[in-house]
Amino acid sequence: MKLRECLLRNRTVVNNLEQGFFGIGIQNGKTPENLGVLWRSAQNMGASFIFTIGNRYAKQACDTHKAVGAMPYFHYDTFDDFFNNLPKGAMLVGVELDKKAEQLETFEHPRRCVYLLGAEDHGLSKTAKEKAHFLVKFKSELSLNVSVAGSIVMYDRQLKNI
Ligand SMILES: C[S@@+](CC[C@H](N)C(=O)[O-])C[C@H]1O[C@@H](n2cnc3c(N)ncnc32)[C@H](O)[C@@H]1O
Repeated sequence: MKLRECLLRNRTVVNNLEQGFFGIGIQNGKTPENLGVLWRSAQNMGASFIFTIGNRYAKQACDTHKAVGAMPYFHYDTFDDFFNNLPKGAMLVGVELDKKAEQLETFEHPRRCVYLLGAEDHGLSKTAKEKAHFLVKFKSELSLNVSVAGSIVMYDRQLKNI
């Protein structure tokens, strides 16, 4: 076998073994429309699952591609319940416009990770920010709509070929 073919084959094997996944959800989301929009982006940008913490998702017309029927949707009553049941080996990435957050533009997304967005009014809880393995933010004058923020993060992951 030629060297180039051999290298390409090895790269494919390594990529397959390193395959990851991600889930995305909101803590105490207030607006059903936002969840519907986020689920639609999640489904179209390769999420493996979606979830809510606190407030539940109610069926929403914005979820035009019916993501809730197409991928697992989990609900957790509390942050602790969610945190204690993270998939094995997955990193929790809190998405928040916070002083301690890393810039998304240079962030290396973990292969196996769970993105958590905050509520429309209060953002992520203090506990969520403390327990997240990473916090990321992107440049914006003021905070953006939560579903738009989630879509930007997923788009960045996609651009970086994770
Ligand atoms: C409308 S914002 C919450 C604003 C809240 N009043 C606050 O000051 O924390 C809703 C969520 O969108 C996400 N978000 C919005 N803009 C963001 C940014 N520039 N960087 C990271 N996350 C952002 C965060 O998850 C945030 O909790």
